[in-house]
Amino acid sequence: MEKVLPVDPREDASAAEPVEGRENGTEIILSVQDLTVGFGSNIVLDKLNLDIYRGEILGFVGASGTGKSVLMRTVLRLLPRRSGSIKILGVEYDAVSEEERMELDMRLGVLFQHGALFSSLTVKENIQVPMREYLNLPQDLMDELARLKIDMVGLAPEAADKFPSELSGGMIKRAALARALALDPDLVFLDEPTSGLDPIGAAEFDNLIAKLRDTLGLTVYMVTHDLDSLFSVCDRIAVLGKKKVLVEGTIEDMLACDDEWVTSYFQGKRARSIVRDDENKVS
Ligand SMILES: Nc1ncnc2c1ncn2[C@@H]1O[C@H](COP(=O)(O)OP(=O)(O)OP(=O)(O)O)[C@@H](O)[C@H]1O
Ligand SMILES: [Mg+2]
Repeated sequence: MEKVLPVDPREDASAAEPVEGRENGTEIILSVQDLTVGFGSNIVLDKLNLDIYRGEILGFVGASGTGKSVLMRTVLRLLPRRSGSIKILGVEYDAVSEEERMELDMRLGVLFQHGALFSSLTVKENIQVPMREYLNLPQDLMDELARLKIDMVGLAPEAADKFPSELSGGMIKRAALARALALDPDLVFLDEPTSGLDPIGAAEFDNLIAKLRDTLGLTVYMVTHDLDSLFSVCDRIAVLGKKKVLVEGTIEDMLACDDEWVTSYFQGKRARSIVRDDENKVS
């Protein structure tokens, strides 16, 4: 497996003290090792390895049905694993108490691929679900926090009291992102956040994610089929295939990779037009 460490502009490797969990001056925020997950006789992930570094936007791609969502759900402990270890924020999940696990969970935000919001709750109430689950805050403080998150994701204040059925697809994604950010997480998991959005809406959402990463110091794990996102906002890309991470690295690494699926994905007709657009851009 090819492996390229990202360059994180906020990390000064020369100044960094050697701290446990740091490699070449870059902190590993999520480390998955030899992970095997299956359903009955269907082994979906087989001894998969993946590291994510603090402050990066990692794009996770792979053909439909290869296990991208399964990996995300397993990392979040929503699915059981057969074997392997998962270390988040330097902590081995299996080795912590229930209380510590809750503290860890609070540092993770999630935007699921399907059913992003509870349909019977308003946007504000949806954002407050994780707050109610993990924190004991007075209602007026939760209302203020929800208002801040709504503003942060670029929704109008009036969206707070709307139900999901009253929102456009793009607004739903933003509201779901606001909920993922409810507890000010370190690491957010986004499962196909721009699917179903028009190209302009998708580009705006990508810009929002990049802005939040820069301002909040978020680390973003983004499952996506969106080539534009991969080319424009992802620092690094990991490709899932053959039940493992086939290759990981920058977009340049993907373009240089000779794996058949990676070549057809990143150098197909659609991808080539994005590369051309990029080259023709006047900065
Ligand atoms: N709860 C489950 N029970 C049984 N099989 C499952 C379950 N969840 C996922 N699978 C199987 O695991 C495999 C991977 O599914 P997954 O949803 O992770 O694909 P994916 O890579 O996210 O695809 P897509 O790009 O279409 O979202 C599929 O064969 C799917 O049928
Ligand atoms: Mg999926």
